[in-house]
Amino acid sequence: MKRLIFLSLTMGVALPVFSGEAVDKRTLVKMPGMMQAHMKANMRDHLLALSEIEEALGASQYANAADIAERRLGMSSLDAHGASHMAQVMPKDMQAIGTEMHRAASRFAVSVRNAEVNGDLRPAMTDLSKVSRQCVACHAAYRIH
Ligand code: HEC
Repeated sequence: MKRLIFLSLTMGVALPVFSGEAVDKRTLVKMPGMMQAHMKANMRDHLLALSEIEEALGASQYANAADIAERRLGMSSLDAHGASHMAQVMPKDMQAIGTEMHRAASRFAVSVRNAEVNGDLRPAMTDLSKVSRQCVACHAAYRIH
């Protein structure tokens, strides 16, 4: 425990998890084990997709970044993720964050294709941050176990 406190100090940030009164205020969303496993597999692919998008941007492969975003995170990914099935067990506000994430990813796919034409990546980067903001928003509010 001492070591953890030391780590948080050297990092210069106050991590609430080390404060001794860490209370998880996220809403527990109950679902069957199979659905939990399915959701977590989707989540891990979301994270992988984000890193692949960043890698593609770094290599100036904008069309590739657009494809990854649309196929794995965007509106086109909904069927592959079994989204309508998953949505049934989610509170409405959680569904709304999920929908906004898919919309944001599809908007990013458009703006990064524009970047390929006009060379200005900045709007696409702003749109990409709106995708990860939805990850953050949902993780801050909900848990499944
Ligand atoms: C609509 C809600 C929602 C959105 C949007 C969302 N997540 Fe999650 N994610 C969750 C929940 C709930 C968990 C489980 C958290 C828990 O119970 O500890 C989770 C877990 C994860 C995990 C851990 C998976 C595991 O194997 O345990 C990763 C990685 C992850 N999310 C990545 C992402 C990324 C990246 C994005 C955005 C591109 C994202 N998530 C968007 C709700 C969401």
